[in-house]
Amino acid sequence: KIPLPRRIFGTQRKNSLGLNLESINTLQILSKKMKVMLSATVVNPEPDDERSQAIYNPADPDDIVGYYWLAKRHDCHHAFDASREAWKTWRFSDVEDRATLLETTAKLYEESYEELILIAMREAGKTLNNALSEVREAVDFLRYYANQARQLFEPTSLPGVTGEENSLHLEGKGPVLCISPWNFPLAIFTGQVSAALAAGNTVIAKPSTFTPLIASKAIELFHKAGFPQQVVQVLTAKAKTVESTILNESALRAVMFTGSSLAARQINRKIAERDGPIIPVIAETGGQNAMIVDSSALTEQVTRDIVQSAFDSAGQRCSALRILFIQEDVKEKTLETLTGYLDTYQLGDPLDWETDIGPVIDAKSCSDLLMHIERFKQQGRVLYQGTIPESKGHFVPPTIIELEDINELYEEVFGPVLHVISFKAEEIDQIIDQINQTGFGLTLGVHSRINQFCETVARRAQVGNIYINRNMIGATVGSQPFGGQDLSGTGPKAGGPHYLLRLANEKTISVNT
Ligand code: ALA
Repeated sequence: KIPLPRRIFGTQRKNSLGLNLESINTLQILSKKMKVMLSATVVNPEPDDERSQAIYNPADPDDIVGYYWLAKRHDCHHAFDASREAWKTWRFSDVEDRATLLETTAKLYEESYEELILIAMREAGKTLNNALSEVREAVDFLRYYANQARQLFEPTSLPGVTGEENSLHLEGKGPVLCISPWNFPLAIFTGQVSAALAAGNTVIAKPSTFTPLIASKAIELFHKAGFPQQVVQVLTAKAKTVESTILNESALRAVMFTGSSLAARQINRKIAERDGPIIPVIAETGGQNAMIVDSSALTEQVTRDIVQSAFDSAGQRCSALRILFIQEDVKEKTLETLTGYLDTYQLGDPLDWETDIGPVIDAKSCSDLLMHIERFKQQGRVLYQGTIPESKGHFVPPTIIELEDINELYEEVFGPVLHVISFKAEEIDQIIDQINQTGFGLTLGVHSRINQFCETVARRAQVGNIYINRNMIGATVGSQPFGGQDLSGTGPKAGGPHYLLRLANEKTISVNT
């Protein structure tokens, strides 16, 4: 068994995998077996069933990773009825029991991590490094929310006049719908589900149709840990199907969503229009994330942090760096180091352990990104383009594009494409205003050795997560609560101390003694 490298709570995530050659060989052997294992263990292994859908490996579209059942309207109704019914007893569950079940699930994740990372690699195109981080983050979420629930859900005594006892209690709300994305198919999926369960709710989890296998595996582990089947269910359906069924249910009590701003708006609209109470929608959406680098920054460190921020996960992180603002005097030097560094990066199949950047999720994302690059190429504004492997996979070369103005980007470019804008020292206030005016507010990076510069930028920027003199991705659960403002999300932050509060009802009990 390969020991899962542990992240010490509260410390910065290390890049080293801690895997030796023997471990890597074991993983390679496992990955070959995986084809058979997955095809045999998916929800419905019969490819000829009319509801059965194939899942393709984004690094090799001829490789069918497995099959899943696409849920129809009646499946959604059925799942919701079960969730509502289960809530009648689950609402009296003890917080300590829920926390213990989450910790048991965390242990099972750790025991199954080889299988989980291999599914993430083949189903979502994750590199080994990224797949390992997925499992670590998911385990962190399980333990963090278990502890948070223990602390927050203890009744609090409140002051009162003589002869009166007052106390405040937190309780679950009811059935919660969790809609999660393909780019963190285990970490965000698990974060949503574990938070909703920790707070005492029942859960219907709808993963992306790109990544249902890892979601099914995860829910299997929740059940194995002891969560009742009806208390946590997984349902892979099209967004429209869920919208016209579960989102219409008056007994639905919260929606947790990570995805596009457009979809978040649509969910809010649906929820507002249905009959039933007003309920919270926790939305984590996109970003138009920038990094500001002044001329005092250390070029080598900046280079490494830019590459990680823009190209890790093939740029398919909502936190990823999209626009680099670089002070004019250091532009040439930084770009030279940057492109030299990028030349050493290998793009390819994640099952090849040398790979630094994997594929993007599907053919449409690939062609949209290539079209975006082509538009700027025709204008002679592509400063760098990496090479792509000879393969049918959905590969987009790491690319650097020069912009004149932030407004040249109309939407989030969700892939390995970095845009660069140079600035003069006196323009810094204007740049921060421009970043704020995009309407998004997720992550921002700052690189400078002048403390006052960093402080000013941090104070003025209207974003959720600011990273100073480091990369701007990979928020650590519990240490770097994650989430944006405005078009980037509603808050509260995932992996932060206020998250569970949005998923619970408060009840004040006053007793005349
Ligand atoms: N939580 C993910 C990150 O910080 C999106 O990169």
